[in-house]
Amino acid sequence: MTINTKLDELIGNTPILEIKTARPDWKIYLKLEYFNPAGSFKDRTARSLMDWAEKTGKLKRGMEIFESSSGNTAKALAMLSAARGYKFTAIVDEHAPADKLRSIKAYGGKLHFCSDDEDKKGGHLVDIRRKTAKRLAEERGGINLDQYDNPENPKGYYDTLGKEIFEQVPDADYLVGTIGTGSSLSGSGQYIKEHGQTKIIALEPKGSSHFSPHGHGYFISGPGYPAGAILPKNIDTALFDKHDYVADKEAFNTMRFFAESKGLLVGDSSGMMLYYAMKFIKSEPVSEKIKKMVLIIGDSGESYLTHAFCDEWMAEKNLLDEKVTKELKDFYI
Ligand SMILES: Cc1ncc(COP(=O)(O)O)c(C=O)c1O
Repeated sequence: MTINTKLDELIGNTPILEIKTARPDWKIYLKLEYFNPAGSFKDRTARSLMDWAEKTGKLKRGMEIFESSSGNTAKALAMLSAARGYKFTAIVDEHAPADKLRSIKAYGGKLHFCSDDEDKKGGHLVDIRRKTAKRLAEERGGINLDQYDNPENPKGYYDTLGKEIFEQVPDADYLVGTIGTGSSLSGSGQYIKEHGQTKIIALEPKGSSHFSPHGHGYFISGPGYPAGAILPKNIDTALFDKHDYVADKEAFNTMRFFAESKGLLVGDSSGMMLYYAMKFIKSEPVSEKIKKMVLIIGDSGESYLTHAFCDEWMAEKNLLDEKVTKELKDFYI
C-alpha cells in the first residue's frame, strides 16, 4: 500500500468509469476528476500555478494569494494555501454556487465579492473580478496567479490530465470537455493530439461567447465565458475538432438523472457533456467498429446542492424538464 505524506500527492491519477448505453457500438468513459482532494480538476490548476510561483520565487511563505474564480479554482487554491501555509482571498461574484463559496471559507479562505454595480465605470463582471484580483495583490504585497492567461495552467493539464487520459484510453476516438478559461481542455487536448488520433470536442453553455460575441445569460456556473468579456489567452481553439453548446435545462436535468438513477453525483459541466454525448452518439450511424469517447467529469454535484439539485431553485427558474429525463432514460440504460 502506498502511504502519501503530502496532500499534493493525492491530486491526479483519478479513475475512469465506463458507463452503459443503448448503443453497443460505443463506449463512454468518465474520467472522474471529482476524486481530487478538493473535489475538482482545478486542484491541478492550483498545484501547477503554486508550484510555478514558488519555484520562480514569486510566492513566499506567509504571502497572500488573490484569484478570481467561478468557484472551483478558488476552492482548490484555498485547500492548497491551507496545506502550504499561505493566506488566500477568492474574488467571486453572486453567480458562484453557495456550496462552493462555503467550501472556500471552510478551508480558511476569504471571499471578496464583486457585483455588477460595484464598478460604475462598466466592464464585464469577469473582467472586474480579474482586475480586482490584480489590484488587491499589488496593494497588499500578494500575488495574483491568473488562471486565465498564465500558460502554467494549461501546461499543468498537458503534463498530468492529458497524459493520464492517454495512458488510460490510448485509442479514444473523442475527448469531450467544456471550456471556461480553456486551460483544462487545451492542455490535456494538446497532449492527446500529439500522441494519438483522438478528436477533441469543446462544449460551452448556450449563451456563452467563446465562439460568438452574441451571448446571453445562463445559469451554468463552471464553464463558459459571458458575452462582452475579454477572452482568456489560455484557450487554444485550433485544437478543437468540433465545438457545440448545451443549455442550462439539459445540463441540470442530466445531473439530476445521473444522481438519481446511476448514483453519480456530478457537476454542471459534466451534465453538459453527458447530455451532449447522448445527442452526438444518437446522431451517428450504427457501425461495426466500436468507438470510444472520454468525458472529463470536472467536479462533483456536491457543489450544486443549493443549485441544480435544489427542487425549489430549479422550479423557480423554470428549469425542470421531464422530456430530458425520458430521453436520457432510453439511452443510458
Ligand atoms: C465544473 C467546471 N467545469 C469546467 C470548467 C472549465 O474549465 P477551464 O477553466 O479549464 O476551461 C470549470 C471552470 O471553472 C469548472 O468549474
